[in-house]
Amino acid sequence: MQKIVVNATKGGVGKTTIATNIALLLAKQNKRVWALDLAGRSRMAKFLESTSYFNNGENKIEIKETEPLPDSFPGANNYDFLVADTDDYYEVPATVVTKRGWRLIVPVVPQYDPIGLEDIINETASLLNFGLIVDFVPKARIVVNNRFPANDYEQLHRNVQNLLKDASIEEFLSSNWLPFVSISPLDFTSDEVFSSSLLSVLTEIAT
Ligand SMILES: Nc1ncnc2c1ncn2[C@@H]1O[C@H](COP(=O)(O)OP(=O)(O)OP(=O)(O)O)[C@@H](O)[C@H]1O
Ligand SMILES: [Mg+2]
Repeated sequence: MQKIVVNATKGGVGKTTIATNIALLLAKQNKRVWALDLAGRSRMAKFLESTSYFNNGENKIEIKETEPLPDSFPGANNYDFLVADTDDYYEVPATVVTKRGWRLIVPVVPQYDPIGLEDIINETASLLNFGLIVDFVPKARIVVNNRFPANDYEQLHRNVQNLLKDASIEEFLSSNWLPFVSISPLDFTSDEVFSSSLLSVLTEIAT
């Protein structure tokens, strides 16, 4: 089972939106998905429950309110993917980036104030550098999520790229970014451009 955790130490960056869409995209591809909602408010769980893909007995939704990331997954053989949504105060343990089978997706919003953006990048850098110290290249992608409309996404992407360069973790930046889309809070499914960008990010971390 491949385990994908979406985490960032900042609120409102799109963790739940991304985790929910990934779980749904994989289920639509007939993958067996274990959706793990660690974010407390269960917006991912509530939404997935309402879809036919998570009512078919193949896929599973689990809610663990504000508990740490589990380190054992009984029944994992029945699933191809675990997709975990987390909270903003949630800390992804360094073991996640140094263990086989784990993938980390860190959303960043380029329009957020520079200090907030730098904080998240520095925290991500210390996590990823831990992996590099023990000679393990973590399977992680920092994804630029444009949750606000903008005229020049490429420029915003480059701004994040420069911050990552300063933190020496530029290699983890996804070449794909997520566009601004109109998503209703009750319906996480988004448009095709968002989905295809997310699929490209998944391809980057698949191998
Ligand atoms: N690419 C996007 N385009 C438009 N709106 C977006 C996009 N990504 C996220 N949003 C919106 O931004 C808001 C925050 O997204 P979301 O709840 O997924 O973030 P979060 O990181 O899970 O937040 P929290 O820390 O509160 O759990 C939501 O209203 C969501 O619909
Ligand atoms: Mg959330």
